[in-house]
Amino acid sequence: MLLHRAVIPHLRQACRLKSAPSRLYIRACSTDDSLQPQCPSLAFSGDNSSTGGWKVMGTLLGLGAVLAYHDHRCRATQESPHVYTREEVRSHSSPETRIWVTLGCEVFDVTEFVDLHPGGPSKLMLAAGGPLEPFWALYAVHNQPHVREMLAQYKIGELSPEDKVPSTLKTSDPYIDDPIRHPALKVNSQRPFNAEPPPELLTENYITPNPIFFTRNHLPVPNLDRETYRLHVVGPPGGQSLCLSLDDLYKFPRHEITVTLQCAGNRRSEMTQFKEVRGLEWNIGAISTARWAGARLCDVLAKAGHQLCETEAHVCFEGLDSDPTGTAYGASIPLARAMDPEAEVLLAYEMNGQPLPRDHGFPVRVVVPGVVGARHVKWLGKVSVEPEESYSHWQRRDYKGFSPSVDWDTVDFDSAPSIQELPVQSAITEPKDGETVQSGEVTIKGYAWSGGGRAVVRVDVSLDGGLTWHVAELDGEEQRPRKAWAWRLWQLQAPVPAGRKELNIVCKAVDDSYNVQPDTVAPIWNLRGVLSNAWHRVHVHVAP
Ligand code: MTE
Repeated sequence: MLLHRAVIPHLRQACRLKSAPSRLYIRACSTDDSLQPQCPSLAFSGDNSSTGGWKVMGTLLGLGAVLAYHDHRCRATQESPHVYTREEVRSHSSPETRIWVTLGCEVFDVTEFVDLHPGGPSKLMLAAGGPLEPFWALYAVHNQPHVREMLAQYKIGELSPEDKVPSTLKTSDPYIDDPIRHPALKVNSQRPFNAEPPPELLTENYITPNPIFFTRNHLPVPNLDRETYRLHVVGPPGGQSLCLSLDDLYKFPRHEITVTLQCAGNRRSEMTQFKEVRGLEWNIGAISTARWAGARLCDVLAKAGHQLCETEAHVCFEGLDSDPTGTAYGASIPLARAMDPEAEVLLAYEMNGQPLPRDHGFPVRVVVPGVVGARHVKWLGKVSVEPEESYSHWQRRDYKGFSPSVDWDTVDFDSAPSIQELPVQSAITEPKDGETVQSGEVTIKGYAWSGGGRAVVRVDVSLDGGLTWHVAELDGEEQRPRKAWAWRLWQLQAPVPAGRKELNIVCKAVDDSYNVQPDTVAPIWNLRGVLSNAWHRVHVHVAP
């Protein structure tokens, strides 16, 4: 076990190298569901740097020792794996006793991995001393080869034959009650459900129809009853809290606005193409626009007795969706934004003239114009005013931006502010990458939006990768100064230069603060793949 502990950091180092450009990596030879012991193989595809030789040699020597040990361990496992009872596994559920988990009949010591868990240590600790299956059923993102590969490195043995079927394993599907979705949606993950409209439908309408509005769920969709639903608004110290039914909310002045919602991970797939990141592979469709109606948050907070204060304060929101421990989705925004009538933060009960669809927060959600989607808490259960930001994982340990130099070993989530207002964004929805367009004239369409109510003042489009530019025509609702909450759709009809066999179409937007998009992904790459807003590029062929 001691040797195992000593080896783990090296193995992790080796795994990190797998994703680094030097292309030195170890790979587990079996990642499928079978219960075969995992044996690593080494692949090395060279290092161009002349100074890197010694480092590589050193790494190789260290790695060689690690692999020799690991290979030995694998063979040993093949010969006679350690056998543990479920009781023994259960007794390893804290850093002091070490943290063991099971998957199928395999046993893993994940003590060293807990702090590296992308979903946060607390989430992995939920499974400490027991099976991973109930949690992987909830977060199906785990059912991927690279996750199994990573886990394989922590294998220490197998469950004793009589313990192989866990007696208490909850096999019921927490997603069984999720709503039925539109078949046009491109699904990025089924459980929890995450999906985006295909580009060609995305800008078909200025207002995105409800059934194809992108969906970003972290947990199963709660099934809430309109009649019994209550929103708890915690009052100020010494004051009274409110417990509001839907009918109570209807009594506040109704406020209606058009707002674009964008997930921080929109266009993450372009970041992944540059360098691996952790997160769902969103294309350009984690953004949609709706007409929202509801009560203004400032009116509800005022009714509960809250007012703006001199000291920093935050309005914390809690959803009614929760994980197996009962931990709810949560997020917060500064009190100053919440109390500002001009910021138009809504407790929305209507989306495009309909009650909110279940996937989008029925019966009540927060809509925070100009702010990242993560703060628009759905299935809203509780609102409180606190001196600090929400302690939710999604406020403090996710949805933050970092330098390209920060990796999962050096990241300090406390060092970065939570994402609130988003940067200027645009993308091409037509034509699609790889399509063949007619010679003569090409029509290019897309969307453009900026956070914080900043209006889009221009979209530039290039057919030659950015050498020369055209100005696109902006469509959609007029934008109010400092309250441009919704996107502009845009289009351009441009002549295809004679003799061109292909076009490198590029778009970039400019907002009214003259913020522009960066031309490439590299300088804005970050380990979570958020805030991806480089020039959008589409390569097409021209029909002869
Ligand atoms: N609210 C709750 N309760 N649970 C969630 O998983 N996801 C957030 C936010 N509000 C989420 C939530 C994220 S990350 C985004 S981008 C938006 O909801 C997506 O809203 P939509 O699914 O209506 O498009």
